[in-house]
Amino acid sequence: MEKLIVTGGKPLKGTIRISGAKNSAVALIPTALMADSTVVLDNMPVLRDITTYKSILEDLGARVNFSEDQMVIDPSSLQSIEMIDDNVKQLRASYYLMGALLGKFGEAVIGLPGGCDFEPRPIDQHIKGFEALGAEVRNEHGSIHIKAKQLVGNKIYLDVVSHGATINIMLAAARAKGTTIIENAAKEPEIIDVATLLNAMGAKIKGAGTGTIRIEGVEELKGCRHSIIPDRIQAGTYMIAAAATKGDVLVDNIIPKHMEALTAKLEEMGVEIHELDEGIRVIGKPSYNSIDVKALVYPGFATDLQSPMTTLLTQANGVSVLTDYVFNSRFKHIPELIRMGAKIKLEDRSAVIEQSDLQSAKVKATDLRAGASLVIAGLTVKTGRTEITGVEYIDRGYDNLVDNLKQLGADVWRES
Ligand code: EPU
Repeated sequence: MEKLIVTGGKPLKGTIRISGAKNSAVALIPTALMADSTVVLDNMPVLRDITTYKSILEDLGARVNFSEDQMVIDPSSLQSIEMIDDNVKQLRASYYLMGALLGKFGEAVIGLPGGCDFEPRPIDQHIKGFEALGAEVRNEHGSIHIKAKQLVGNKIYLDVVSHGATINIMLAAARAKGTTIIENAAKEPEIIDVATLLNAMGAKIKGAGTGTIRIEGVEELKGCRHSIIPDRIQAGTYMIAAAATKGDVLVDNIIPKHMEALTAKLEEMGVEIHELDEGIRVIGKPSYNSIDVKALVYPGFATDLQSPMTTLLTQANGVSVLTDYVFNSRFKHIPELIRMGAKIKLEDRSAVIEQSDLQSAKVKATDLRAGASLVIAGLTVKTGRTEITGVEYIDRGYDNLVDNLKQLGADVWRES
């Protein structure tokens, strides 16, 4: 079993360059399968979820070359076979194969997705969208069977603003006959990234990034080259780590506009922020104000930064309240932070966080962002050695974490 060992107490200092966005990449890879020729994806992050997706693509018959930060996908010999193996079950974003294969072949059989199971994560809105486009959907023995003679555009109102359902419906609708309108669509930058790739492949999508997306179906999608947007959640994690360790870090190669909700909250706490064209410099201060944070759908404060932010708020004077309105119970990091001395109470979907002196301890990452919150906690601890197990979760979303943190002056290493 691998562990991360952190001996904290050192302010992070220096520059960190952010890679491509995981949550874009895991949608863009299945999108590329819908082309009839080669798609080149640049700025691809090197992560466990990406290598898992590469294996899934190869099982489907695609030819994939992944080197450095570029993935070349040739889907010309792709087949719509049943995808129910462990790789599919391990990966939450395997659900995008439903929309991609349904759009391309009119059918798909996909094992129910796994991934970070911090709470039950339904896919009813994805299915509602496929059915509205004319597909029959059955859940049999843990797999979703989807089939349509002809996908036909429709007006689809999402009952909950869902990032995944918006993308999945957009994928299937790109090849439907006629026009699809998604109302109450999610607005995340990753959704715009998928629409940009689809449009470069020949799709006709307007309104991505707003609450109404209009998709005119097309008969073919061709190969192209696309560069993945920077990872705003990785960027936010390093910004929070810089503030928590009272450091001075330039988080580079990002789109500062994507970080606005976090930047506003850090400034409210008293963190010094300098926004540049493609970077944000975060300068920590000796003490911080307590604040309230509400995790909401984009452009609100990202739920994925809720757990790292919990750790930072243990360093603020007084009492802070952090409420997650996206996921009801994404709080598995809290018992582990309490093990490290954090004074946190859970009240319904809110964490009430008091200023705390964190201590080193042996803790366990139970999902990706919970893992990030524990790493930041370890960096903040003044003495002793924090041991974090569950490293496989952290590897799903943070590439080169250990090297990046070392480059910023942290004492972090892996042990088996
Ligand atoms: N929901 C439903 N029905 C659905 C779909 C969603 O009720 O059919 C609910 C969910 O239970 C949740 C809310 O809607 O309460 C939002 O879920 P959403 O569908 O937006 O989440 P997702 O698409 O499954 C993606 C990211 C998550 C990120 C969320 C919210 C990927 C692969 N995952 O998940 O990222 O937290 O959007 O922004 O893109 C992570 O990176 O650590 C991560 C979990």
